[in-house]
Amino acid sequence: MRKIAVIGACGQIGTELVVKLRSMIGDANVFAADIKDECSEVLKSGPYHKLDILEKESVRSFIINNEITEVYLLAALLSATAEKHPMFAWQLNMEGLFTILDLGKEGYLNKIFWPSSIAVFGPTTPRVDTPQYTIMEPTTVYGISKQAGERWCEYYYNNYGVDVRSIRYPGLISYTSLPGGGTTDYAVDIFYQAKLGKEYTCFLSENTALPMMYMEDAIRATIELMEAPKENIAIRSSYNLGGVSFTPKEIAEEIKKQVPDFQITYAPDFRQKIADTWPGSINDEDARKDWGWEEKYNLEELVRIMLSNVDVNLLV
Ligand code: NAD
Ligand code: SER
Repeated sequence: MRKIAVIGACGQIGTELVVKLRSMIGDANVFAADIKDECSEVLKSGPYHKLDILEKESVRSFIINNEITEVYLLAALLSATAEKHPMFAWQLNMEGLFTILDLGKEGYLNKIFWPSSIAVFGPTTPRVDTPQYTIMEPTTVYGISKQAGERWCEYYYNNYGVDVRSIRYPGLISYTSLPGGGTTDYAVDIFYQAKLGKEYTCFLSENTALPMMYMEDAIRATIELMEAPKENIAIRSSYNLGGVSFTPKEIAEEIKKQVPDFQITYAPDFRQKIADTWPGSINDEDARKDWGWEEKYNLEELVRIMLSNVDVNLLV
């Protein structure tokens, strides 16, 4: 009997991932958990638990008492917020991972998903078509925590046989919930201002290329990775995933095709320094080879869907 827990379920990824997993194995078998008291409407379709990933004993009881067999661990501080609270970010992003990996080591969990990020790369990494294996010297606390997490995932797989799987997500773009404090958030924020008919002031400069992905592709990639036969998963640190790469200027031009009056200005802030250290595009040939990854959404489709669906009421 499969029972899945999504921890950090109320965030940008969790709100969509929970719905998808419930459609696959039944509402009652997917437990949403988050530190928040209340969560969005979509999570009311099945069990919800208020849970702090840093409360180790509560997490262990939750997993063991509910006979959870798989965990998707999404609770973390993202890049921009983490730079404001570096020591807390390190604690949150690492301690929760150890709690879950140890439950895998003790045999309570059959499978674990833990997301990494393009933030594992740094200023000395080749920026174009960044390979799976390359120089990795992240300069943000978020990137350092993701790189360390990758190393520990691989360690638990190699030494204890824990079936942990991971993706280095690019910046994710979606409309069902707002993003949670990342450097790529501009590529979501921009649609709300376009929809409101307002000028958008972008916190990155116009030619800053970053890899991005429409959420439906990211959720599908996650499920495909987790459902793939164990022997196909050759990489136990984290898989590169490319998506679609564009600059603020390019996304603004695509928006203007549908909203001709749309205006953008640029006022780079501290997040520019973070973006400058990240890849502009990603080589994901290992994901394609090992578990058949193929993206569906390009920039034009992504812009069309976002403009049709963003709900400005989410901003209040
Ligand atoms: P998010 O910030 O939108 O959501 C994180 C959720 O975790 C929030 O609902 C928050 O309430 C919850 N949370 C925070 N502290 C918690 C705690 N102590 N206990 C339990 N829950 C807690 O983040 P997201 O965008 O959904 O990202 C999820 C994961 O994916 C993170 O690990 C992030 O680093 C990774 N990731 C995201 C992106 C992206 O573009 N969204 C890109 C790369 C990697
Ligand atoms: N979207 C994430 C961020 O900007 C990338 O991991 O933090």
